[in-house]
Amino acid sequence: MWYQIREYRDADYSAVRTIYTTGFREHVGTVYLLALKRPWIQGMLCGVCLLLHILSGSILTCILGVGGVILAIWMAVQYIFEQGIQLGLREDLLDIRNSYMQPGSRSCFWVVELKGSIVGTVGILPCVEEPGAWELKRISVKQEFRGRGLAKALCKTALEFVARHNVKRVVLFTSMVQTDAHNLYNSIGFEKEEEFV
Ligand SMILES: CC(C)(COP(=O)(O)OP(=O)(O)OC[C@H]1O[C@@H](n2cnc3c(N)ncnc32)[C@H](O)[C@@H]1OP(=O)(O)O)[C@@H](O)C(=O)NCCC(=O)NCCS
Repeated sequence: MWYQIREYRDADYSAVRTIYTTGFREHVGTVYLLALKRPWIQGMLCGVCLLLHILSGSILTCILGVGGVILAIWMAVQYIFEQGIQLGLREDLLDIRNSYMQPGSRSCFWVVELKGSIVGTVGILPCVEEPGAWELKRISVKQEFRGRGLAKALCKTALEFVARHNVKRVVLFTSMVQTDAHNLYNSIGFEKEEEFV
């Protein structure tokens, strides 16, 4: 498979933002199922069911009520995801050139180009949360091009870049549902330091 990893150009702007948005959004179903498995949510669903049964004496009302709450949870998870996506699009991805491609700065953004299309992205820049460390960000590969080593090649490019700039520590933030990404990060030598809910 022939592909090229190259630095970001302004013409890549929409493709990069779309890859980020679709990569982020694909985890919404997993987060929703995780939410439904949480004991307090299950307790609340039982409570709603019991309350409706006491008030109406009707099984149908219980089913409709619980169904309504489950639907509301789905909409809430989707809303939270959209907020997360919009946050990324308003932060570093709003002005990618300015965020990553300033001449002389120790930050950069790369894309993978395959048959003329952008199919993957990664960026690296100084970490806001941890001064002195650099953060790997926006790693994403289009679904149909996964499992071919593109993400690994992108990360390698970013890590070689920071090594050339004498950066000693690279961090990244990921979520518990991004299990493919965990395998990727483990395979290139990252170690989990902190976990928070
Ligand atoms: C995570 C992601 C970038 C991986 O992209 P990819 O191009 O498929 O990854 P690669 O082919 O380079 O695989 C690299 C390593 O990741 C792991 N990996 C990738 N996909 C995997 C999968 N579906 N199952 C298990 N391990 C997987 C493997 O360890 C693999 O190394 P190996 O082939 O030597 O075993 C991709 O799944 C993605 O874009 N996900 C959506 C966006 C996202 O979650 N980004 C992470 C933000 S923190």
